[in-house]
Order: sequence, then C-alpha cells, then structure tokens
Amino acid sequence: APSARAEEARPGYHFAPARNWNNDPNGLVYYEGEYHLFYQYNPYGDRWGHMSWGHAVSRDLVTWQELPVAIPETDVQAFSGGVVVDWNNTSGFGKDGRPPLVALFTGHNTKTRIQSQYLAYSNDKGRTWTTHGKVLDIGSTEFRDPKIFWHEATKRWVMLTVIAAENRVLVWTSGDLKSWTMASSFGPTGARGKNWECPDIFELPIEGGKPGEKRWVLAISLGDSSVNGGSGMQYFVGDFDGQRFTLDPSWTGDPQWLDWGADYYAAVTYNDLPKSDPRKIAIGWANNWRYANLIPTYPNRGLMSLPRSLSLHKTSEGYRLYQAPVAEAEALRRDHSSAEGLKLGEASQPLPVKGGRAELVIDLDTGSSQQVEIAIKDAQGYQTLVGVTAPTGEVYVDRTRSGPSFHEGFPDRHIAPVDLKGRKVKLHLFVDESIIELYVNDGARTITDRFFRGGGELSWSVSARGGEATIETLNAWTLSDPRKK
Ligand code: FRU
Repeated sequence: APSARAEEARPGYHFAPARNWNNDPNGLVYYEGEYHLFYQYNPYGDRWGHMSWGHAVSRDLVTWQELPVAIPETDVQAFSGGVVVDWNNTSGFGKDGRPPLVALFTGHNTKTRIQSQYLAYSNDKGRTWTTHGKVLDIGSTEFRDPKIFWHEATKRWVMLTVIAAENRVLVWTSGDLKSWTMASSFGPTGARGKNWECPDIFELPIEGGKPGEKRWVLAISLGDSSVNGGSGMQYFVGDFDGQRFTLDPSWTGDPQWLDWGADYYAAVTYNDLPKSDPRKIAIGWANNWRYANLIPTYPNRGLMSLPRSLSLHKTSEGYRLYQAPVAEAEALRRDHSSAEGLKLGEASQPLPVKGGRAELVIDLDTGSSQQVEIAIKDAQGYQTLVGVTAPTGEVYVDRTRSGPSFHEGFPDRHIAPVDLKGRKVKLHLFVDESIIELYVNDGARTITDRFFRGGGELSWSVSARGGEATIETLNAWTLSDPRKK
C-alpha cells in the first residue's frame, strides 16, 4: 500500500522509473552526448508483466531523465537485449546520412512461450523506435537476452544469447545485424542453476600484467543458487576471437562472483562510449528474483545500481575483476567531513554522517579487534550493519533486521572474503535511502544490498568488539538527490 515511509526510503541518486515495475537494464549505449538506459518495464503495474522497454537518458551518468516507453509490448513482450550505433549503416536503416540506433531484443510470445530475436531501430536519438520484426528464431522457449557489439578485429557484429535452462551462451555473427550465423557455444561450466541470463563480453587491459596484455571477460547472470542466495553474477576470463570464447588456462574451475550481495543482477556494459573514454561501464539491476516482486517500495518497484567502471587485475589467485563507482558520482558530494586516527572500542560512537544519502571512504586498521561494525539505524529499531571480521578475513552486510519482513529470503548476512593486507581494509560505502553499495579494497569486492526501514531519519555509528581498531582516515559526504534539483 502507498505510504509515506515508502516515499521516505526511496533512493535519490540511483535510477528508478517514477512508477511501476522495472528489471534488467537493456541496450546501454552512448550516442551524441547521451547515455541511454533502456530497461525491462511494466507500464501497467508494479509487478513483473507486459514487458516493454522503458527509457531514460543522462549526460553525466548520475542525473537521469525518464522518457516515454521506447519499445512496447505487441504480440510479443519485449524482453532484454542490446543496442548499437550502426555507424556504417550496415543494416540500411540509417536516414539522411545519419547512423541508426539498432536494438536486438527478445520477443517473448506469451501464448507459445517461444523466444526469438527481434530487431528495432531508431532515427531520432532513441526517442521513437520502429520494429523491423523477427530476425532469428530457433523454436526455443529459452533463447534470450541478445547482447550485440561491433568486433573490430573481424569487422563483424557479434551477438551473445543464452539458452537459459541449459546454462549455455551462444555466439552469433553478422554483417548487417539482420542475418545471423551461429559461431560457437559456451557452457555449462562454473556456477550452474536455474537459468543463465543476460550474457555480456568485453575486453580489458590487465592491471599489473605485461605491457599491452589484455583479456576478455564473459559475464553471466545466474537466476538462482548464487553465492549469497538467489540471483547473482559470475564471470569467466579468457580469450575471444570474434567467434569463440576460450577460458584462460589459469582458470581453476571455481566460480568467480561479480558481487557478493543479494541485489546485483543482469548487469551489462555500455556500447559506443566516446573514443576518448577507455572505460567499460556497467549498470546492474539492484534486485533478486527470489523476492523481486515483493519488495516493499512504492510507487515503483525496481532500482538500478550506480554505473560502475570495470578493470581486470592480475593477482596471486588469477585474473580478477574490480569494480569502482564511476568518477562522475563525485559530483553528488556535499558537506564534506573527515576524521583521522579514530580509536574504536566496545562503546559505539557516532559517525560524522547524516541522513540516508551518504558516501563514506574509510581506511581501517582492524588492530586487535575481532569485529568492526558500522550500524545504520532508523528511529524504529531497524538496522543494517556493515562489518569486518578480521580473524576470518571477511567483510559483510548484515540485513537480518533491515525493515519489516516481507520474504524469508531477505533477512540475511552477506559475506565476502577479503585480503586484509596486514589487518587493513579500505571500505567505500554508498547509501541511498534503501540501498547499500559497498566497494572493498578499491573494488576487489563489492556487496550490493537493498535494505528497508521503519520510519525516521537514519543514524550512523561504529564500534569494535574483542579488541581495539583504528579508523586511520575517514571522509564522508552527504550526496545530493538529482531528482530534487
Ligand atoms: C533477467 C530476465 C531475462 C529476460 C527478462 C524478462 O532478469 O529474466 O532473462 O529477458 O528478465 O523480463
């Protein structure tokens, strides 16, 4: 039911449509100064259904403007997919010498449940779309989530899709975005379960590698049985020649998780960023299919993560993906406060942070402590905890008492293993009313979790158990809400 509380707990600088249901980000593409964010959207209600492509644009990755539905439901629902700028008009859908935006999305036939790939294009900067129709059908009910991009080395379009229930990724190639040839199949391997979805693949330079060394990352969303319950994401590191992904020989077979919280899913990366911007930027859906339709929010249900910049590091354990909030998020910072050499013990101390929209950067020396814990409490006794357990080398978000109960899968503690480098750890924390994004040790680990509230402002404190710890440096900001400018 509509309530003031739900409004109060509504995130500000994380994108969500003003009302109704949304899931996966779709068709992330940059064109003529605008970052497009399409997304799975139900124009008619706040639960999953009538899937259409909602649309928002931004010029800075933190201020978003919601636009009318881009691709509506027809005889098929418009499931997830991707968008490219067809610079050379290979598709022939360009107009007046300007390249078209071309979308490939899954048309889900509600009656037959057959899923096939559809093409739509836009000649007006994504504002209106013409559906060209079905371009690829293999008669499967599990064939979805095309991610398309231009592969420069082979000068061809590449499309990744899944056969979801079989935990397989198919690679397709094309010269014109309309006729597709299957090139290879990957999986099942790594973490398996009910559905591989929303594949993505991109190349990154190796930080700490040889000069010029690069690898490809294949990212896959796993609908259930992920590391911290329900939906989550894994990635594979290897090579890609435009036709086939091959695992790096260093892979041990252990699944690599992208995020250790319960609310990071279906993330994909931007296409066609300006040449001057070498980043790979991803946005994920901050939700989990276990309880997505039940989260207590109003008037919308569904939320996007902050855009994240990805990097690939050579570590003693192998190649590892790191994630950082995009630097553009620094523009949200207001009211800076800082502290140094803050000794922590059993007695909880207030943190110099106010309210529900905050960013904290903490260099922590866990000292002799067993556990250091930040508590974010509301006026009704609900709390969300962010902690470090030094002896076991763990960072966690504990939401066992994070708001009124609505699903048994929600209250839990989400743990990520961390390298404590001589008992030290760096925590970078974003809170936006009812979401936490925790980046640990420069993004070597992330934990993304929704939390909910009773009522009243949030208050912040910190304490240590079983010994002493020290906050060596702390920087904190209140973050502005771009919707309230
Ligand atoms: C992932 C997903 C996709 C599908 C879409 C439907 O969250 O299940 O596989 O295309 O959502 O909304």
